[in-house]
Amino acid sequence: MARSDTMLRVDQAGEFGATRIYAGQLAVMGDRAPGAAEIRAMAAQEADHRARFDALIAARGVRPTALQPVWSAAGFALGAATALIGPEAAMACTAAIETEIDRHYSEQLEQLGDSDPELSAIIEEFRGDEREHKAAALAAGAERAPAYHLLTGAIRLGCRVAIGLSKRI
Ligand SMILES: [Fe+2]
Ligand SMILES: [Fe+2]
Repeated sequence: MARSDTMLRVDQAGEFGATRIYAGQLAVMGDRAPGAAEIRAMAAQEADHRARFDALIAARGVRPTALQPVWSAAGFALGAATALIGPEAAMACTAAIETEIDRHYSEQLEQLGDSDPELSAIIEEFRGDEREHKAAALAAGAERAPAYHLLTGAIRLGCRVAIGLSKRI
């Protein structure tokens, strides 16, 4: 499998996971909770990211990860769990995930160089959105979440494991 195909598979899995995290958070929080409007706005962008990777994965005939059902359940559970802790924990989840995704997309851009301009342009655009999500989450009080460092450390580790697995499976 070409390197950019592997990247595309991981990225599609990640954006799918992001939509599931926000679905879980919104299921718990409803519309009127603090932060719900911001989460809804981020969720809409993740849906767009996912749709664009879905289209590219189909156009290029790349096999999606077989772990999609796992990421669906795990993402939703992570979103619901963090929202149950509270709105700051929900934002801490976004801050943690986007820290890893920023790093992940930056690594990919470096590895791609100028070998796949179509994919690079999309990754660069999405990385900009993810950085905004992280900034919005911090501005909304992510760091006031209980056990912020423990919570975000665990989520970041889970995110890295998910990335590693989606490359292979
Ligand atoms: Fe995204
Ligand atoms: Fe995001």
